[in-house]
Amino acid sequence: MCEMYDEILTEGLNGVIINKTEDVDIVNPWNVSSTRATGVDYEKLTKKFGCTKITSELIKKVKSIINKDPHHLLTRGIFFAHRDFDIILDMYVQKKPFFLYTGRGPSSEAMHLGHLIPFIFTKWLQDIFDVPMVIQMTDDEKFFWKDLTLEQTHTLAIENAKDIIACGFELDKTFIFSDLDYISQSRAFYSHILRIQKLVNFNQIKSIFGLGESDSIGKIQFPAVEAAPCFTGSFPHIFGVENAKTKEMRCLIPCAIDQDPYFRMTRDVAPKLGYAKPAMIYSSFIPSLQGAQTKMSASEEMTSIYLTDTPNQIKNKINKFAFSGGKDTIEEHREKGGDCSIDIPYQYLKFFMEDDKKLEQIYQDYTIGKMLSGEIKKQLIQIIQDIVKDHQEKRSKITDEMVKAYMTPRKLKFSY
Ligand code: TYM
Repeated sequence: MCEMYDEILTEGLNGVIINKTEDVDIVNPWNVSSTRATGVDYEKLTKKFGCTKITSELIKKVKSIINKDPHHLLTRGIFFAHRDFDIILDMYVQKKPFFLYTGRGPSSEAMHLGHLIPFIFTKWLQDIFDVPMVIQMTDDEKFFWKDLTLEQTHTLAIENAKDIIACGFELDKTFIFSDLDYISQSRAFYSHILRIQKLVNFNQIKSIFGLGESDSIGKIQFPAVEAAPCFTGSFPHIFGVENAKTKEMRCLIPCAIDQDPYFRMTRDVAPKLGYAKPAMIYSSFIPSLQGAQTKMSASEEMTSIYLTDTPNQIKNKINKFAFSGGKDTIEEHREKGGDCSIDIPYQYLKFFMEDDKKLEQIYQDYTIGKMLSGEIKKQLIQIIQDIVKDHQEKRSKITDEMVKAYMTPRKLKFSY
C-alpha cells in the first residue's frame, strides 16, 4: 500500500478506506478513487457503509409493482445499493405519501455525464411514482469547498438548474432551490438546519466526514444543510404545516454513493426530530475517461465529457483518452479478445446504451476479439453525441422565466 494512503488512514478520512493490506478504495463526497483497475469494489463498499445490496428479487418486486420493465440503470446494477428502498415500495403499494429529493453542488458551469445519471433516474422515478420532488442546489457548499465567490456559486446554481430542468422534470411536481435563496426565504428550512446542527457534535462530523480542526466552520456545519431537505417540515409551501402525518412522510434520495455520509448522519438524527428516516437508492460512478481508478470529475477536465462538449470534442476525447481493455495489436486482440471489466467505452455503454440485446452482443463480440477497440469506441461516440445533442437542444429552450418558475416556493401538485 502506498504511503499516501497510509497518511490518509492515520487521519481517519471518512473511515471509508476498505482494505488496509491490498487494494484501497476511497469514497467520500470529495474524493472517489481506487487502486484497482476495475475501480471501486462496490460489494465491499456496500458492507462497509452498512447499506443493502439491490438484489434481483428487489428488482423483480419493482417490476411487479410498476407492471413494466424497470430502468436499465436499475436492471444492470448501476443503481446497486439502498437504504429502505423496499419500505418506499411498500408505501407506494399502500398509497402512503412520500417524496423525492436529490441535488447538485454547482461548482462548474458545465455539468458532466456523471452528474446526469441521478437526474435521469430520478426523472424515471418521478414518472412511475407520480410524487413531488425537491432538488437542492448547494451554492453555499461550493463556496466553502471551492475558490469561488458566493455570487459565482449562485450564478452556477442557476446555470446548472437549466441542465436539470432539461432532464424533463414536471414543473407542477418539482421545486428546485438554491440554498442561498431559500434560506433567506424560509424560516422553516433554516429552523430545520438549526435543529439538526444542535443534534450533531464535532466528533461525529470528524468521524463521518473526516473533517478536522483546521477546516472552516462553514464546512463543519454544512452537512446539516444537505440533511434538512430530507424533512417535510423544511417545505411548508409543499407539505403544509408540520404535523404527525407529515413527519411520517419519508423521502427517497437517488444519487451516487459518495453522498451516503450526509444521509447516514441524517438517518441518525431523524428519530430525534420525530421524523421517519430518509431512504436512499445509490448508483456507482461513471469512471473517468482514463480508467475506473477515479470517477468522472468536474474539476479534472480531461477525465470528463461535458454536457457542453461539441460532437468533435466528444469524438476526440473518446478516441484519445478512453482507456481501452483491448490488446496492443489487432492480431493479439483477435486471438485473446478484450477485457470489458476495464474497458471504458464498454463501461460507458452500460450506462447509456438502452438496448440490452445490443449491449450483450457488444460484450460477446468484444470479449472474443471479434469487435475491435476502434469499433466499440465508434458505437460509444455515436450514442454520446446523440445524448449530448439532445440535451443541448432541450437546454437551449429553458428560459430564465422557466428557471424562476421552478425555483419559486409554491404548492406542488400531488394526489395525497
Ligand atoms: P455533485 O454536484 O458533486 O453531484 C451531483 C450528483 O451527481 C452524482 N455524481 C455522479 N454520479 C455518477 N457518476 C459520477 N462520476 C458522478 N459524480 C457525481 C452525485 O452523487 C450527486 O448525486 N453535495 C452534493 C449536492 C447535493 C445532493 C443532495 C446530491 C445536495 N443535496 C441530495 C444528492 C442528493 C454535490 O455536491 O453533488
